[in-house]
Amino acid sequence: MEVKKSSQPIGIFDSGVGGLTVADAVSRRLVHEEIIYFGDTVHLPYGEKSADAIRYYCLQIVKFLLKEDCKIVVIACNSASAAAYRPLLDFFEHTLFVNVVDPLVEEVARRGFQSVGVIATKATIQSGVYEQKLKELQPGLRVASLTTPLLAPMIEEGFFNGVVSRTVIENYLSNPMFEGIDALLLACTHYPLIKKNIQDFFEGRVQIFDSTDVVAQQVYTRLASRNLLNDRRRQPHRFYVSDYTPSFEGAARLFYPGEIQIEEKRIWREGM
Ligand code: DGL
Repeated sequence: MEVKKSSQPIGIFDSGVGGLTVADAVSRRLVHEEIIYFGDTVHLPYGEKSADAIRYYCLQIVKFLLKEDCKIVVIACNSASAAAYRPLLDFFEHTLFVNVVDPLVEEVARRGFQSVGVIATKATIQSGVYEQKLKELQPGLRVASLTTPLLAPMIEEGFFNGVVSRTVIENYLSNPMFEGIDALLLACTHYPLIKKNIQDFFEGRVQIFDSTDVVAQQVYTRLASRNLLNDRRRQPHRFYVSDYTPSFEGAARLFYPGEIQIEEKRIWREGM
């Protein structure tokens, strides 16, 4: 087994821009680390794909990130974490992985709520992963899960914190299944961008959780426990997509406030 070095980069991937909300949190929490980000825009949206297809995409992306010498891989997509986390652990036995589901579930289960809501893509909700993991940690918890497939495309088109997003969000969140919830989990890495709309909708009655900071903390803990924290960054972050479009670059700027230059990496067309 190859020995890892602290100077190696952190690999982060998603179907597209959503995972940049996680990358942003990681780069703020671990300021000396180099990040290699991959957005699989050829296959966006993962939320509408089968678990088998998502697993295949993830396998190829992780191979790419490991070829780029990443010391840890963050699956910054709930749909991918739900479908592919276990298979990736089995396939890449010696690789450190962080998914976005477990840190969020652990954070929420610690609070001792009675009733929570979960909103996410079809792939995530239909996998049942949140309900199952939350109930493993807190057996009596009531979990109301709703697919909200319009939200990720709406956000990517730049509709958030305005009239359009307020109307769509209101439509989803006024579902009677959410009556009386104490907390709502934003189980898609796109949704932190509409957190304010969601908070406004509930007028402070419901606590809103997302995976950004808890995942960044988990990356920190995993690296620290293996002495793999970098103390001096030498390279700028690198951002790759499998299919480049200028509109994607525009959307990426909404998700990642820092300096960003996106390059196309044709891992699907050139083999690797
Ligand atoms: N960001 C992805 C997630 O967390 C959703 C976007 C997609 O459907 O590709 O599930």
